[in-house]
Amino acid sequence: MLIALYLRQADLDGEEARALLGELRRSQPESEGAEQIVTFTPAGKRMALPLEDGAEHSMLFPVPEGTFDVVVVSPQLRFFTNEWSRAFLAQLVSSLRPSGSLWVPILSKRGDDGLWSERWLTQTLGVKASLATSLPLLRFDRIPALSPASSILEWYFREHAAAMVEDYLYSTSGAPQIAEPQPKAAPVARTIAGEVADSVPFASHLERFASTMTYSVTGASYKSMLLSYILEKELPGRTGLRVLDMGGGMGMVATELVLTSGRVDQATVCDPLARNSLVMARLGRFFGERVQDRLELRISRAEDFRYPGAFDLITFIGSLLYVPREARQQVIASAFDALAPGGLLVVHENIKSPTYTKDFDVMFSVEEIDALLGNHGRIERYLSTATRAVTREAAGSKTVFRSVRK
Ligand SMILES: C[S@@+](CC[C@H](N)C(=O)[O-])C[C@H]1O[C@@H](n2cnc3c(N)ncnc32)[C@H](O)[C@@H]1O
Repeated sequence: MLIALYLRQADLDGEEARALLGELRRSQPESEGAEQIVTFTPAGKRMALPLEDGAEHSMLFPVPEGTFDVVVVSPQLRFFTNEWSRAFLAQLVSSLRPSGSLWVPILSKRGDDGLWSERWLTQTLGVKASLATSLPLLRFDRIPALSPASSILEWYFREHAAAMVEDYLYSTSGAPQIAEPQPKAAPVARTIAGEVADSVPFASHLERFASTMTYSVTGASYKSMLLSYILEKELPGRTGLRVLDMGGGMGMVATELVLTSGRVDQATVCDPLARNSLVMARLGRFFGERVQDRLELRISRAEDFRYPGAFDLITFIGSLLYVPREARQQVIASAFDALAPGGLLVVHENIKSPTYTKDFDVMFSVEEIDALLGNHGRIERYLSTATRAVTREAAGSKTVFRSVRK
């Protein structure tokens, strides 16, 4: 029996993972052959076949069709009821053998926090669940293939794996071995197929590139979901919105908003990294008419940017920290100037804490970010983990979305 386990960490010794596996074994007593488990996590780096027993694969690994007998998604992971999740579930379903079963968590108790609910899962998968477990999981069998979702994740699974290598080669001038010591040979790993995996320097570079991609693609799910929710709360009933995503990276969040929010008409992504245009061009080609003339990329640092017009929403998601401290006040003032009357500025920043080693010196404290934004009006706060507004006290030092209306 070949099992795929989607977890927050590949913690197979964890109590929850053990309970999960025990339940699975009881549910499939008839299955034949030795049990093998392949783990997938959001931080996993493995991106190349073969699937290895014991290695941590990326949660976005495009598993070939008909591979697994059982796919389990742990309740530790957080998924929203959006198109992104529909694309994710479609990939899980396609990775099952015809007799395989899918086990997915009910993440929402009351159904009002934007997380996977029993109703949404049943509707999306198009079959009834068999509730055969004491765990907060639903089991689905004989799930028909899902229709394509309107999400960047659909693009990722359908065309990205191969294109990623090509983009990577272009963006590093065809030299994957650039200015890097040769990675040490990894321990030789046993694979599902019983083969021996060689370590190749190229694979490790590809994995590093893939982990940036995983960050962008995975983050676009909750970021676009929460931005849509904030728009609903702050600009109710307004459509045809013009959005600017400052430091918007590869444009994943902007593209997802254009595809799914139903209210964003135009999105401009501004980022200093020119190579992001390669990914945005691919997104544009893949989604064709759905995004044509609605997405653009401008290459600039926030400090140098000249706003080309007025916007209804300007976002800084994990990017304001990279603006030098002395320039931040001016950057936020310019963004505020560029908002149309009634427009919205949204900033999302991880709050400085000793657990962050990378970027610690440039990160914001709560007082610093509140003072910077509070100059321009009343700050509203929204969780990153559920569709919910929170007070300043409840937000504390959590990573929340802060919004200010013009
Ligand atoms: C952590 S990534 C976040 C990307 C994207 N907003 C997301 O949420 O997926 C930070 C982004 O900030 C951009 N950046 C770095 N310095 C910047 C600056 N001075 N002005 C604007 N963006 C900057 C980087 O190129 C990168 O794309």
